[in-house]
Amino acid sequence: MAETNPGQRCLVTGGAGFIGSHLVEYLLASGHTVTVIDNFSTGRTENLSHLDGDHRLQVHEQAIENHDAVRPLFEDVEWVFHLTALADIVPSIQNPLDYYRSNVEGTMSVVEAARLAGVSRLIYSASEIRSDFVD
Ligand SMILES: NC(=O)c1ccc[n+]([C@@H]2O[C@H](COP(=O)([O-])OP(=O)(O)OC[C@H]3O[C@@H](n4cnc5c(N)ncnc54)[C@H](O)[C@@H]3O)[C@@H](O)[C@H]2O)c1
Repeated sequence: MAETNPGQRCLVTGGAGFIGSHLVEYLLASGHTVTVIDNFSTGRTENLSHLDGDHRLQVHEQAIENHDAVRPLFEDVEWVFHLTALADIVPSIQNPLDYYRSNVEGTMSVVEAARLAGVSRLIYSASEIRSDFVD
């Protein structure tokens, strides 16, 4: 990340979470523009409050599995960092459909929105997959 060109348009799913909010801070400090999509299920507004007023940051409260709602947010985005997750083990056994919708359908929604928008890089934290759509 140290050699990245400044001024990229980035989108961070889960940007109000623990890892996502630190990444958002890093990307802004590196000169990039950042769109956050987060439903604040486990994320917190306080994680981003110190960045309030930075015109390069847009925060959208939305669930990633709501494809029609999130898809327009990917327009003109160059890099996507996909960091949303429901990751608690016992609740995932008690409420498997919630976890399926958020983690599986949500990830498909993000991947498809990125593909349709021609995003050049998709970085997915959970399994460390990186895909090149364009080059
Ligand atoms: N924290 C760690 O030590 C660690 C280690 C390895 C991998 N990871 C992975 O990194 C990713 C992020 O971890 P974290 O610790 O930042 O978790 P976190 O819970 O702090 O952040 C996840 C964010 O995703 C948001 N979110 C969840 N479901 C959503 C949905 N359907 N739509 C929109 N937003 C949604 C939550 O509100 C939260 O802000 C996860 O995939 C996790 O498994 C974390």
